[in-house]
Amino acid sequence: MKKFAAKAASALCAFGLGMALTASVQAATDEAIIERIKPAGSVCVQGDDSCGGAAAAAPASSGGARSGEEIYTGKCAACHASGVLGAPKFGTNEMQLRLDEKGMETLLSHAINGFNAMPPRGTCADCSDDEIQAAIDHMLK
Ligand code: HEC
Repeated sequence: MKKFAAKAASALCAFGLGMALTASVQAATDEAIIERIKPAGSVCVQGDDSCGGAAAAAPASSGGARSGEEIYTGKCAACHASGVLGAPKFGTNEMQLRLDEKGMETLLSHAINGFNAMPPRGTCADCSDDEIQAAIDHMLK
């Protein structure tokens, strides 16, 4: 596949660019593409040294988690403080009523995967499942 791509690329070099140049152009292009398509935030794989210690950003991590209050205030309050778009309002029993009706498993799964106008993870892409759970617990206090 790679060989074919290189061949095809060099075939396109109708003005006699050498194979070496073609190869280096190819490499530079690959780098440029990787640079272009890489996500705005840096991805940190759990256990990777470049994550800087606690690896709190890894969605699956449970260690070094932020508190439910922190997550709520930073990510959920935007809608849940005032009940935007029908979001169960903080400081009322609205979340408790949903808990009684649906159970925690459903609430958590809706919070993680999204539910109507409730966006997946409440737009907190780097929140772990545990952090989402903690934020829900905070809303139930
Ligand atoms: C953009 C606004 C918005 C943000 C931000 C947001 N929510 Fe919501 N959330 C909603 C809305 C709207 C609903 C009600 C959806 C419905 O019942 O149709 C809701 C419902 C919920 C529910 C109940 C789901 C159910 O099954 O009834 C939970 C739990 C929840 N949100 C958790 C969170 C958590 C945790 C965060 C922060 C990490 C968060 N939300 C951030 C808008 C938001």
